Amino acid sequence: MFEGLNEGQARDKILEMVDEYCRSFHRKRPYAEGDRIPYASRVYDSEEMRCLVDSALEFWLTSGRYSERFEKGLSGFLGVRYCSFVNSGSSANLLAFMALTSPLLGERAIRRGDEVITVAAGFPTTVTPIIQYGAVPVFVDVTIPQYNIDCSMLEEALSERTKAVMIAHTLGNPFDIQSVKEFCDRHGLWLVEDNCDALGAEYAFNGESGLCGSFGDIGTSSFYPPHHMTTGEGGAVYTGNPLLNRIIRSLRDWGRDCACPSGRDDLCGRRFGGKYGELPFGYDHKYVYSHFGYNLKATDMQAAIGCAQLNKLPRFVEQRRRNFAYLREALSGVQDKLILPEPCPNSKPSWFGFLMTCREGASRDKLVAYLESRGIQTRMLFAGNLIRHPCFDEMRKAGKGYRAVGELSVTDEIMYRSFWVGVYPGMTDDMLDKIASSIKSALAL
Ligand SMILES: Cc1ncc(COP(=O)(O)O)c(C=O)c1O
Repeated sequence: MFEGLNEGQARDKILEMVDEYCRSFHRKRPYAEGDRIPYASRVYDSEEMRCLVDSALEFWLTSGRYSERFEKGLSGFLGVRYCSFVNSGSSANLLAFMALTSPLLGERAIRRGDEVITVAAGFPTTVTPIIQYGAVPVFVDVTIPQYNIDCSMLEEALSERTKAVMIAHTLGNPFDIQSVKEFCDRHGLWLVEDNCDALGAEYAFNGESGLCGSFGDIGTSSFYPPHHMTTGEGGAVYTGNPLLNRIIRSLRDWGRDCACPSGRDDLCGRRFGGKYGELPFGYDHKYVYSHFGYNLKATDMQAAIGCAQLNKLPRFVEQRRRNFAYLREALSGVQDKLILPEPCPNSKPSWFGFLMTCREGASRDKLVAYLESRGIQTRMLFAGNLIRHPCFDEMRKAGKGYRAVGELSVTDEIMYRSFWVGVYPGMTDDMLDKIASSIKSALAL
């Protein structure tokens, strides 16, 4: 098959076949009445498959040239100086939080027992690292119809031990970045933006527009398949702060001090020339540990898919906005029964989904059952109220390990009355029409 070809030519031949394979066997047939409508799905073509196979043929496997390219591409997209590719959004949140516990941050480092302001209406792994470390999450209520932190309660949440705010931009809708940032600046707090559901969302502040994830000290992304773009499993941590970047890299890569990339020795020029801790002078820098770290790197094959997806990301974001607007318009007549989502002022969301709350008299559970029975996939706002989950049983009973500011009554309302449907870029008008007409029929029953 490869007779007379050199390696590059053989590779090109394989990649041409991959193109052909993708076109032949991965083309989606158009939506037909009766098909299931998922809340999210991967959107890709032969470009992703070519990159993946190209990386597989190279067989480098761990992070390599595609990872470097992907990290640069994502930094460029976000307008953030440093970016580290990792194996999931949850790992990204773990790294973001743990970076803030580094002794290199001195007085500002988060210590066990220190408090971190967050919300309970969201995804668990925004909060998990705080608890696992032994810091104290302080839960603040959120508002409907934006489903983000209620900034009027921030001052009340503050204590002498508050060190950071760590919250997500819910389903692609930015939180009130200006209020949160001003609060953090006023009190010398770190801000971690969990940007896992909001890649591409924009916010204008002090006359300047920027992308969510670039306003805080650290931002995080998830590339799990339902998200705005995918690498299969995958995530990223980004920051504009060189010290935080150094800490994030160290923690991601086993805790090591040396920042040389995998498989490249002595790029730092200090391999056998330094004195660290109580180690003998010249001890191999590759094996000097400045943190108790992890290995949270992703593979080059994941990065290769990411490089192709990044090219499509601006279009994906626009399509999500368009699908959101289509649903909003189609459902404008049922606002007496449903509260429809609203963007945060001064923002241009990058919607992950279309989140609704049933008013008194409309049953969320009946509506969801009706939609699911018609093949329309629905989702809750993740945990609803995280504190009410079994993982909190012990802490709830003991009445310690976390704090809640007030009753979190809006968070509870979301747990009982809210749900969402998809707006992913692979959706067609037929699919959106079916969702809207099914919601209207269910509400008319
Ligand atoms: C807001 C938020 N943060 C973090 C995550 C975790 O990402 P991953 O599934 O890649 O671990 C998710 C997952 O969807 C999420 O929605």
